[in-house]
Order: sequence, then structure tokens, then C-alpha cells
Amino acid sequence: MERGRGSLKDCSFDCNYKSGCGITRINVVPIGGDGSGQINIMFVGRDPGNNENIQKVPFVGDAGKFIRMTINAVFGENGEDKVFITNLVKCHTENNIGPNELDVKHCAGNLRREIARVRPAVVVALGETVSSYFIGRFLPTPIKMKSIVGKRYIVKYSINKVDEWKMIILPCYHPSPRNIQYYSQIRDVVKDAKRISEISQVTRI
Ligand code: URA
Repeated sequence: MERGRGSLKDCSFDCNYKSGCGITRINVVPIGGDGSGQINIMFVGRDPGNNENIQKVPFVGDAGKFIRMTINAVFGENGEDKVFITNLVKCHTENNIGPNELDVKHCAGNLRREIARVRPAVVVALGETVSSYFIGRFLPTPIKMKSIVGKRYIVKYSINKVDEWKMIILPCYHPSPRNIQYYSQIRDVVKDAKRISEISQVTRI
């Protein structure tokens, strides 16, 4: 599958530039998720990096190469095409400073739409900001990864009051080269995600 051309084309963006998001948008474009979501697992990073902004696909730089290689090793050939890989905030932040709480608030609808479409049973939350977002203890002080990695958090998710399901959140170190010492823990989390997805009874759309 061509990168960035996943089957989920209806995950359209709703980006109101004037709504309060403070991300500088000079040469920056919103980047949606990648993959088909055939396996009910989502990988969510914080925001696209510079390489991603150029190629317009999430996780294609050094961190992306590692996480995609790990996904393929755990899920088999082309595993990365069967899961869904995306970001909490869709625009690259200048100098990788990361989004603030308002940026996340104003962009969150895009991720919610992707989640509603993929309906993941498991979300691998890459890094402290994303993990904290999902388990409900958000910025300005994200939870330290070492206190949450390896644990499973169950969160309820609903599109509306009728359509509600549970997702398991797996906090995971961000796969960036500066976290090389945690690579085996990252692999363990991806393996755990596979185990959970295999026993999950979640109904897909
Ligand atoms: N890091 C992220 O969090 N997301 C990307 O898309 C790339 C690197």
C-alpha cells in the first residue's frame, strides 16, 4: 500500500485556523493517519516531525522507521498497512516544541473522527503527552512514562451516548532514537497490543 493512502479516506479534517490553535503554520500542513486499520490497533504519536511534514505521512522519519519495523516484526509482513498510525495533533510544531493544551483541544476532533472510524480495541500511546491525554491526566504536566509503561488502562469511548465501547490504552515510550535504551520495552508493548487485539471482541464498522 502506498504510504499515506490508507483506506480511511473519510477521516476528513476540520481545522479552523482561527479557533485558538497556536501552532505556527508556515510551510506546515495537517497530516492525517496512515494504514487501513484492518487490525483493531491504533498507534498515536504527539505531532508530525519535519520529515513527516515534508512527506505528508505520519512516522516516516527515524522514529517512524523503528516503530514501523517493530510493527512489521510483530504483525508480520506489511503489518504497518493493517494497523492505523496517526498523531494527537495533526500539524508539525516548530522546532518540535510540541502542542500546548489549547492546540490539542482545538485539534482533538480530528483524532476523535479517526478513532470513530477505526474503532480500535487497543491504542498504543507513544510518549508521555499522548499517554497522559488518553488516560485523563493531561498537560501541563504529563505523567512520567516510567510510572505507566507496561500497564493497561481501560477507557470508555463514545461517539454518541448510544454507541459506546471500551479501548485499552497502552502507554509506550516514544520510538525516537533518543529512547534507544527503551527499544525492547517498546517491542514488548507492541506485542501486548497484538495479544489484546487477538482476543478482543470489539465490533468493527
Ligand atoms: N513523532 C511523532 O510523534 N509523530 C510522527 O508522526 C513522527 C514522529
